[in-house]
Amino acid sequence: MAQKSFKYVILGGGVAAGYAAREFAKQGVKPCELAIISKEAVAPYERPALSKAYLFPEGAARLPGFHVCVGSGGERLLPEWYKEKGIELILSTEIVKADLAAKTLISAAGEIFKYHILMIATGSTVIKLTDFRVEGADAQNIFYLREIADADKLVEAIKAKKNGKAVIVGGGYIGLELGAVMKINNFDVTMVYPEPWCMPRLFSAGIAEFYEGYYAKKGIKIVKGTVAVGFTSDSNGEVKEVKLKDGRVLEADIVVVGVGGRPLTTLFKGQVEEEKGGIKTDAFFKTSVPDVYAVGDVATFPMKLYNDVRRVEHVDHARKSAEQAVRAIKASEEGKSTDEYDYLPYFYSRSFDLSWQFYGDNVGDTVLFGDNNPESPKAKFGSYWIKDGKIVGAFLEGGSPDENKAIAKVARVQPPVENLDILQKEGLSFACKI
Ligand code: FDA
Ligand code: NAD
Repeated sequence: MAQKSFKYVILGGGVAAGYAAREFAKQGVKPCELAIISKEAVAPYERPALSKAYLFPEGAARLPGFHVCVGSGGERLLPEWYKEKGIELILSTEIVKADLAAKTLISAAGEIFKYHILMIATGSTVIKLTDFRVEGADAQNIFYLREIADADKLVEAIKAKKNGKAVIVGGGYIGLELGAVMKINNFDVTMVYPEPWCMPRLFSAGIAEFYEGYYAKKGIKIVKGTVAVGFTSDSNGEVKEVKLKDGRVLEADIVVVGVGGRPLTTLFKGQVEEEKGGIKTDAFFKTSVPDVYAVGDVATFPMKLYNDVRRVEHVDHARKSAEQAVRAIKASEEGKSTDEYDYLPYFYSRSFDLSWQFYGDNVGDTVLFGDNNPESPKAKFGSYWIKDGKIVGAFLEGGSPDENKAIAKVARVQPPVENLDILQKEGLSFACKI
């Protein structure tokens, strides 16, 4: 079988891989030294587009428009860019076996790839309802969204089931973004999730109240406190109904499921130390195995700011961890050192004409400020999280770039707060003063 050898191999061709390639090029990489191996058929792209503009009925985003690194305002790396830099893009190639001791990867087609340094950037996969043996969950037109191929199948179904009924299972990121985009496509949308409010991992009840009210105003029906326990399908095998645990039955032409992700670490089980469901790394994204790094969704890394170790499934960290790992690789080759990763968590989402940003940690007491009435023509509100007398997290809906910068600064600086009532009254102006 064919065998190829590279000095550096990035396994995975997503966000982290693309930003790592740009950093390798910046630091200096010789032709044929670096390869990216990806099971996707396209060069690295900004994955967040898939649940937003990619699904718009008009003016939809399409490749090559959103290849990395446009999502952070950087240069767009087209396939030609990799060619010019001598970086080999090995696409449509799934690695099915990794032997870290022998520094060897083997693809589904049996190709062998050798490396000196490996960067694991395999990201996450979706949790499926079939994993829990939910009855009928293998029916057609039940969709998950992770890769561009998944989004293409959903686009086809949106066209085929024009103006139909969509049920969204899950009230997290995918649930909220897909609920909105299916409504924009003129579907009759119902969202179902088990918790008392949407996005419970991050939102307080007060924050969620605004988004649930806004979605209701747009005509989206929300069913909370229950789960999908089964699906029925028609004679073509296409989904027809969603059966809920509370006994209700919802009609559906399309079901989109977003019930969480799982980091793709299976190839390395037993070969590398893991922690909190991810591959354990140091502040330079080095794993327990020499010459093996892990970045993006799969890495469990030291969060210096909170003296803790964490895994983060968001695009900003995927970009920054990849750049940090490349800087560390290059520095160690030159016998130099680099600064430790000192990450401030940053998450965001957009739907309809809404846009929020969050920085820091969502622990402790919360203080909601501003106008969070979903009926307001231009609602603008936020929340602070306060722990041990200091602000540790900040959320803002509808902020300007400068205001978003201000809440990022507050979360980084962690100013002390004495009186929560005064903080509530000051609201955003407190952050703008810091
Ligand atoms: P990523 O998933 O980007 O890439 C992994 C790559 O590895 C894929 O190309 C995959 O095919 C490949 N791969 C895996 N196993 C392989 C194997 N065995 N062989 C070969 N290739 C393999 N975040 C955010 O902050 N804001 C947002 O708005 C969004 N929006 C968003 C929308 C959607 C639809 C998703 C799915 C996710 C988001 N995210 C997000 C999360 C963000 O996109 C995510 O955290 C990053 O893409 C993680 O980057 P990675 O490079 O780690 O994985
Ligand atoms: P998530 O963890 O954000 O949300 C999962 C949700 O699934 C839970 O909040 C819960 O409401 C629901 N749930 C769990 N079990 C259920 C069940 N049996 N029936 C109905 N609902 C159930 O995960 P996600 O929304 O699937 O997102 C997947 C990945 O994609 C995550 O890594 C996420 O960070 C990423 N993503 C991020 C963004 C963003 O940052 N803007 C956007 C899209 C996707």
